[in-house]
Amino acid sequence: MAETHIESLLKEQRIFPPSPEFSKHAHIHSLEVYDSITKRAAEDPEGYWADIAAELDWFEPWKKVLEWDSPFAKWFVGGKTNIAFNCIDRHLSSATKNKVAILWEGEPGDVRALSYQMLHYEVCRFANVLKSLGIEKGDRATIYMGMVPELAIAMLACARIGVTHNVVFGGFSAEALRDRINDSKSRVLITADGAYRRGAIVPLKKNADEALSGAPSIERVIVYKRTGEPVNMAPPRDLWWHDQVAKMAGVCPAERLEAEHPVFMLYTSGTTGKPKGVVHATGGYMTNVYITTKWVFDLKDEDTFWCSADVGWVTGHSYIVYGPLLNGATSVMYEGAPNYPEPDRFWSIIEKFKVNIFYTAPTAIRSFIKWGDLWPAKHDLSSLRLLGTVGEPINPEAWMWYHKNIGRDRCPIVDTWWQTETGAIMISPIPGALPTKPGSATRPLPGVVVDVVDRQGKSVGTNQGGFLVIKRPWPSMLRTIYGDPERYKKQYWSEIPGMYFTGDGARCDEDGYLWIMGRIDDVINVSGHRIGTMEVESSLVSHPTVAEAAVVGRPDELKGQGIVAFVTLAAGHQAAPALKEELKGHVAKTIGGFAKPDEIRFTDALPKTRSGKIMRRLLRDLASGQATVGDTTTLEDFSVLTKLREEEE
Ligand code: WT7
Repeated sequence: MAETHIESLLKEQRIFPPSPEFSKHAHIHSLEVYDSITKRAAEDPEGYWADIAAELDWFEPWKKVLEWDSPFAKWFVGGKTNIAFNCIDRHLSSATKNKVAILWEGEPGDVRALSYQMLHYEVCRFANVLKSLGIEKGDRATIYMGMVPELAIAMLACARIGVTHNVVFGGFSAEALRDRINDSKSRVLITADGAYRRGAIVPLKKNADEALSGAPSIERVIVYKRTGEPVNMAPPRDLWWHDQVAKMAGVCPAERLEAEHPVFMLYTSGTTGKPKGVVHATGGYMTNVYITTKWVFDLKDEDTFWCSADVGWVTGHSYIVYGPLLNGATSVMYEGAPNYPEPDRFWSIIEKFKVNIFYTAPTAIRSFIKWGDLWPAKHDLSSLRLLGTVGEPINPEAWMWYHKNIGRDRCPIVDTWWQTETGAIMISPIPGALPTKPGSATRPLPGVVVDVVDRQGKSVGTNQGGFLVIKRPWPSMLRTIYGDPERYKKQYWSEIPGMYFTGDGARCDEDGYLWIMGRIDDVINVSGHRIGTMEVESSLVSHPTVAEAAVVGRPDELKGQGIVAFVTLAAGHQAAPALKEELKGHVAKTIGGFAKPDEIRFTDALPKTRSGKIMRRLLRDLASGQATVGDTTTLEDFSVLTKLREEEE
């Protein structure tokens, strides 16, 4: 792992205490309050979580807070609730009914504001559409859309009637979509004709048509008209969203769901095999997402909250849709690219909507830095009071830039660590209470028990690198991998016995602050998106010219990590520059553009151990231009390494 990274972070000495003005009005306004909540959560975790859950609405109370049959957890057992009811109906008996729930801006500049009451109407109508098609509680629905309010409406409609949604990011290719539909056995696909992105149109329905040629579980396709481009509609399977909702009533009772009812699944990349369908459960997810949104972002009734992620990733699920709505907040949603038509689109949205809390990714911040200070400087960003980041470690210099140029030295920054699997933020400053250090996600939230350990699960000392683990179950933890409980056990709970293994390396400093060092498994983090090396490798070997492929990450100034693929060709094929481009295109086609390798290197052989395992560590060194320092004694054929080095020159 990147020793140099640890080095640089060790030198980081700056500390930013919360300002008295900020703390004065914060939900958790001092270290004392924070410590007492943390203490309470440690002494009585079940009582702690139960009190939070009780802030939300339940149709029937739970009988047991936690049933822990390691590693399988059930939270709020016997309780009945509905997350869509809690996101919407809960707010309809107060003035919040007329508050803006979703404040949306399309890339072309069109704006829509949906109040909680309007959201209720739209969600009910769409839930009725699903019901009219015979889609019911226990079914799965795949959603493949761009960033339009109807994406949130579709999710909430599913949740309202107990249909488990499976959102597939609109940047995924037809093949990736097909795999995710098939693995989830979805009966319905909800999509759109297209989506606007950087002035062009993403042909969602066309991709969907391609995916559907091999997706027999899909009975119906509902198509939202966003761009008006002509698309192919296949009756009776394909239906227009607007035709269907027009026939429906705006009332639909929320199903009384078991707390453990699977609210959604979301595919994410792992070390081995195909992407995993991470399953989340209604009651626990709702509780954890609700409280983290409130405390980490210090969310108040008057705030306008903007998380700039895509709803196709877990960040958008938890902090564009569910978290803000559970809190009755106004959530901003933007359809397009950050640099369209100019690199100041985000700042103009913040100025226009008077956004108070802004949550984005380090990779985006590095792009802003590259585009130049002038773009944010052109805008009045004085409405901002809190900033956040997520997705990858933020380098202290990017943190400082964000603090100065966006926060204007006024706004606390919350560096939030979590994963698709954790459902909600796990490690983060509480902004009114904890001093921050640039580059550190600081401490675990109350009720979250993490540690940095060695292979045997023994805590390593202060400032020693090790594996980041979570030692107690938490309400929003994934329940299983869809259809594969064995893989769930093996992947997360066997690596280090009895603990949840995150896949990240970390170090804990003398103040108990955590410094995340990134993935230690074969997962690459490109612009905050997790890509399994295996997935890119299988894509490459599915091309007729490729015999074998090994994929590694290398540091990339903008994207955090870039992808380098070492490829050996099948007999009779020539290494040619055109083939490199073809292979890159092939990966984009089979997975999605964001997984396209930055570089392809042809080689005669790959370095392997005597047991035949590819030594990715050596390839990583090569790809990042470092001299190999590590142990090479297990290398089966030394000449391979020498050759690879020569090929580089
Ligand atoms: C991985 C999870 C859930 C947010 C979006 C990514 C990395 C996430 C941080 C952070 C350092 C971070 C980790 C983690 N990561 N946040 N604040 N500091 N690293 O979700 O695709 O499930 O990826 O993102 O490596 O394991 P994801």
